[in-house]
Amino acid sequence: MASASSPAPGVTKIVAHGVAPLRAGQGYSFVLRRLHSLSGIVPVGAFLFEHILISNSTAITGPDAYARQVSFLANLPLVFFLEFFGIWMPIFFHALYGFYIWYRGDGNVGAYPWSGNWMYTAQRWTGGIAFVYILWHTYTMRFTGVDLHDNPMASFGKVQNEVVHTAQFLFYVAGLVAASWHFAYGIWLFSAKWGIVSGDKAQKRLLRACIVLFLVLCGAGLASLYSFRSTPMQNVGTGGRITVTITDHPAAVDGRRVQ
Ligand code: HEM
Repeated sequence: MASASSPAPGVTKIVAHGVAPLRAGQGYSFVLRRLHSLSGIVPVGAFLFEHILISNSTAITGPDAYARQVSFLANLPLVFFLEFFGIWMPIFFHALYGFYIWYRGDGNVGAYPWSGNWMYTAQRWTGGIAFVYILWHTYTMRFTGVDLHDNPMASFGKVQNEVVHTAQFLFYVAGLVAASWHFAYGIWLFSAKWGIVSGDKAQKRLLRACIVLFLVLCGAGLASLYSFRSTPMQNVGTGGRITVTITDHPAAVDGRRVQ
């Protein structure tokens, strides 16, 4: 008797081209798959979009603009809870469940020679590279050295101190390219799986738009990295702090500067 996976004798098995849609009735993992898929767009993808195209792009304008942006983010109300529930937890969920999907699936790139399967494999590897990069980037930027929430004027110099080293700069580039591709192609996957964009022509148009988004993300990220590398080194220690001249301060008693 033919099983669900092997066709009956004489029946040709037709392998569907493209991305399998998410269907109801795929077992207990259905809700987790949906959450994984959604979390890639909101909040994780939305955060990546903001981080590259808005916050880090201000570095192109220079250290002061960058410090103001970091200061704005650091002073958002309940910033710790926003970071914890809005960024860290969703990234952890998406990443860990992503590794589980990777482990459970098979990267059948040799067996099915159309490009969709290369994309399938690239989606997993870019996710893995992004994960290693995000762990390292968060650790060095948030949990080592000068605390940028207390000392936003040090932000530009702190990033410079990393990207001035060629190996770390290349790691930034790898993380940027991997995360940008993963997110941009992820929008296409999401739209296909949720049935938002169906039909060959519409999906091809969307794929082109996603490739443009990938190039825009990489372009903006590389332009910011260039600004960090090409601007003279900024102070990170006390010299990088916002300084106030006491004579300008309402409580001024002498001409000393405080930090
Ligand atoms: C930079 C942070 C990340 C963003 C913005 C992001 C975004 C996305 C998006 C939008 C999707 C498409 C959703 C879908 O498949 O329906 C996706 C899929 C996927 N992500 Fe991520 N992701 C990130 C990090 C990661 C990490 C660290 C991993 C760990 C390996 C990962 C693993 C996966 C996998 C395996 C898929 C494909 C799921 C499937 O084919 O069903 N992602 N991601």
